[in-house]
Amino acid sequence: MIFGRVKPLDAILATAEKKSLHRSLGWFQLTLFGIGCVIGTGIFVLTAAGAQKAGPGLMLAFAIAGAICIVAALCYAEIAAMIPVAGSAYTYSYATMGELLAWTVGWALILEYAVAASAVSVGWSGYFTGTILNEFLGLQLPAALSGAPLALGGVEGGIINLPAVVIALLITWLLMIGTTESARVNAVLVAIKVTALTAFIFLTLPSSEFSTDKFNPFLPAGVFGGLGSGLGAVGAAATIFFAYVGFDAVSTAAEETKDPQRNVPIGLVGSLLFCTVFYILVAAGAIGTVGGQPIMGPNGVPFPAGSEELARQCATYAADQLPLVCSNEALAHVLRQIGWSGVGNMLGIAAFLALPSVILILMFGQTRIFFVMSRDGLLPEALSKVHPKWKTPYVVTAVTGAAVAFAAAFLPVGKLADIANAGTLYAFAMVAIAVMILRKTAPDRPRKFRAPALTLLGPLTVAGCVFLFVNLPFEAMIVLPAWAALGLVIYFAYGRRASHLGRGMVESHETEAVTQIEPDVPGTR
Ligand code: ALA
Repeated sequence: MIFGRVKPLDAILATAEKKSLHRSLGWFQLTLFGIGCVIGTGIFVLTAAGAQKAGPGLMLAFAIAGAICIVAALCYAEIAAMIPVAGSAYTYSYATMGELLAWTVGWALILEYAVAASAVSVGWSGYFTGTILNEFLGLQLPAALSGAPLALGGVEGGIINLPAVVIALLITWLLMIGTTESARVNAVLVAIKVTALTAFIFLTLPSSEFSTDKFNPFLPAGVFGGLGSGLGAVGAAATIFFAYVGFDAVSTAAEETKDPQRNVPIGLVGSLLFCTVFYILVAAGAIGTVGGQPIMGPNGVPFPAGSEELARQCATYAADQLPLVCSNEALAHVLRQIGWSGVGNMLGIAAFLALPSVILILMFGQTRIFFVMSRDGLLPEALSKVHPKWKTPYVVTAVTGAAVAFAAAFLPVGKLADIANAGTLYAFAMVAIAVMILRKTAPDRPRKFRAPALTLLGPLTVAGCVFLFVNLPFEAMIVLPAWAALGLVIYFAYGRRASHLGRGMVESHETEAVTQIEPDVPGTR
């Protein structure tokens, strides 16, 4: 039967036991880790795209996306603490909904991790070009090398985003030689990001430039901008959801947490709540000072973010007159506009320093999922080859890095983020379904953490994910079924026959190599 290949939970749990990490993370480390994974391109860069979609309604968008992430996070935490093995959403689906759906989840996770890594690379490129090259070195990178082609929503004269390619390849190399981030480095980077955003809030909200008039109209594109348009407060929420992506990495640290029933929800919900409040304040500071009204098209509807028309409109402004919605380094730009150039540049440096760690965490997550899928036989085993000296899955890392760099080269950040969101929302919905199934099929299995009121939370998570998905721009929405179709062709042409489970091999197979390459979740110790 097509949905019949369900991986036995016992085999998966035996795998987990062999790995048995004995770590004792408290809620504070977990919260720090969460903030480290989450704050990145979403707030530092996509604030501009969000404002183009919703105007001041961007604040509402942050609240909507944050609320959906918090309910999803609680579901994630239950299953992550119960099945604490690599592969997260993919493995959970394998144990509950069978191989075919698990494959689709693993396949969608490529969008979450690899495409998100591309998006953060492009976001980093904006700060590198604007702050480091322009402001500090007085250099102007030729348009041909600093952005995606105009036809794809990039810049006038753009061909390739070279800095984004370079950072993606640099991180790939670091991962190949075995770099993982230590908890100390993570804590320093979190401090840098939080300091930068706090400075932003304290310089903008009390600023003399701040005026409540700038919030009027509050919803220039309405709450619902129209299905497939990606506009309005909910359209912005679907994009800005990206600013919360990465919290699932915290769930995967659940097994390493002491007193998980208490600490996991505090860590997860705490970091998400913290980010939500911060994001709303940052959006208020940006919009209240320099204004955040969208650039409207001739029909009174905002030009789509990342569109050629918008890029053309933006090109008509002088650099010091650029509206928020046109900036590639939104937050630094705001501070420069209101007379705090020095602090704006410091914020630019903060983004320059901190965003690469988000790329590293995302790419690490991607290689780990590929690794598990290839270990299950669904992808060629050659991919999971471990380097004799570096002890890393170097083949899969190199392949991932090349793909991340390619996407970063030719697509703008908003489009990449929307595509990543489409895959992530699918995976989150599937995780919520898996949690509900397990409550039925394995009610007595010990759970280190139980999501409260799951009968409500589970369906709410699924509904929230579907809601955000249908409010993505049509072109991002359509990527998911197209990507799934490609995935299914590959599954039926290769994975279905090669699958270890399909061939009757259901042993727990946490090989030494796996333990070697997955000593811990980066940034947690
Ligand atoms: N949430 C992460 C970011 O905004 C992926 O960069």
